[in-house]
Amino acid sequence: MDVIFEFVRALLNVHARPCFLAHKLMVARQSHFTTPYTNQYISLESEFGADNYHPLPVVLERGKGVHLFDVDGKQYLDFLSAYSAVNQGHCHPNIVRALIDQSQKLTLTSRAFYNDRLGEYSEYVAKLFGYDRVLPMNTGVEGGETAVKLARRWGYDVKGIEKDQARVLFAGGNFWGRTLAAVSSSTDPSSYHGFGPLMPGFGLVPYNDLLALETAVKDPNVCAFMVEPIQGEAGVIVPDCEYMREAHRICKSHDVLLIADEVQTGIGRTGSLLCSDGSEPEFACRPDIVVLGKALSGGILPVSAVLADDAIMLNIKPGEHGSTYGGNPLACRVASEALKVLLDEEMPQNAKRLGAVFRDSMESIQSESGVVSAVRGRGLLNAIEIQPREGKDAYDFCLMLMERGLLAKPTHNNTIRLAPPLCINDAQIAESVEIIRDCARLF
Ligand SMILES: Cc1ncc(COP(=O)(O)O)c(C=O)c1O
Repeated sequence: MDVIFEFVRALLNVHARPCFLAHKLMVARQSHFTTPYTNQYISLESEFGADNYHPLPVVLERGKGVHLFDVDGKQYLDFLSAYSAVNQGHCHPNIVRALIDQSQKLTLTSRAFYNDRLGEYSEYVAKLFGYDRVLPMNTGVEGGETAVKLARRWGYDVKGIEKDQARVLFAGGNFWGRTLAAVSSSTDPSSYHGFGPLMPGFGLVPYNDLLALETAVKDPNVCAFMVEPIQGEAGVIVPDCEYMREAHRICKSHDVLLIADEVQTGIGRTGSLLCSDGSEPEFACRPDIVVLGKALSGGILPVSAVLADDAIMLNIKPGEHGSTYGGNPLACRVASEALKVLLDEEMPQNAKRLGAVFRDSMESIQSESGVVSAVRGRGLLNAIEIQPREGKDAYDFCLMLMERGLLAKPTHNNTIRLAPPLCINDAQIAESVEIIRDCARLF
């Protein structure tokens, strides 16, 4: 089975590991944009931090709504939203108030004791998303790990898979974090190369390929298929509209659980509370397990959650899973407020409406200039493909956007994800379109 897994991984593999020389070149390209002042901050990170990120050369110190401000006071439109964690906008006053209020009363008790916030929060989240129960964690990847553990346990206790034989399928191009389990399912060598031995019991199927899924789930040891309704990190890859609904039907017919990784697509980002709610009601799907993170706290602190019904959730017993910070009162209070703000201010509806306006504008830029070669997305999770020219690529395009006051970053190769906070308004969308148009003209 491992040989097949490696073969599929090789087939799906599209990204090369960036080499040291490329990194040096990137640093040289950035130097034009930094000042002695900003360099102080950048040098400190470079000297004392691990070298596991390559940020754009901007040093931020403040955020408000859709805006970020650098240490020189320059204002930017944030079109990354901390990888969709800041859906509610930076430092939303209601969420900050909840944070301050709760932090002055009680922040952490561990789950050794009850606290007065977790029960109320669990009820609110379970009812809001329509599941029996919620299991609180902290980061998105912990949510994914939790979902995989739940699925394996269900596989043994309910489906009757023999000890240690359970398999979980993932889609090619998936991204669900950086733990060993997450990188073990990755098709991107820069995620898994050099970190072996990898987790056994994982399999891959190409994304948006229902036939391949139908074949793979015939293996009686498969307990679950974990998939993003839209692949964010892979470059905002939007599958056919019936994909999630049909994937669920196929899984169900083979007694396999569907896990929707909504860490990036959830919490209003794509125009509905969950992306698996579907672009249209007839394509809606109710996954067996849902993983939430990022915007669950409005970008204030790490909060994630796994949703499932009793038949799945209750197979894990006391002492078998948890986290010191999972379900802490501060997180519960902040996440409750973050969800309320999102709903009260109708942010999913705003994402749907302005997302359509934004894509229309991107398509008109595509037809005006040859620089933008593709536009795709749903709600306010969108991407454009940049046609490289004269040695310049999407990274250079992002540097141009930055100079003009818009922050975005390439996902892979020449794809730029454009995902502002969901509180963005018409005028700010229009402003962003003009910046992107200007860059496309001058690129
Ligand atoms: C779809 C998806 N799942 C999981 C994660 C992991 O979340 P975290 O970085 O909070 O662990 C990410 C992060 O980008 C993601 O995009």
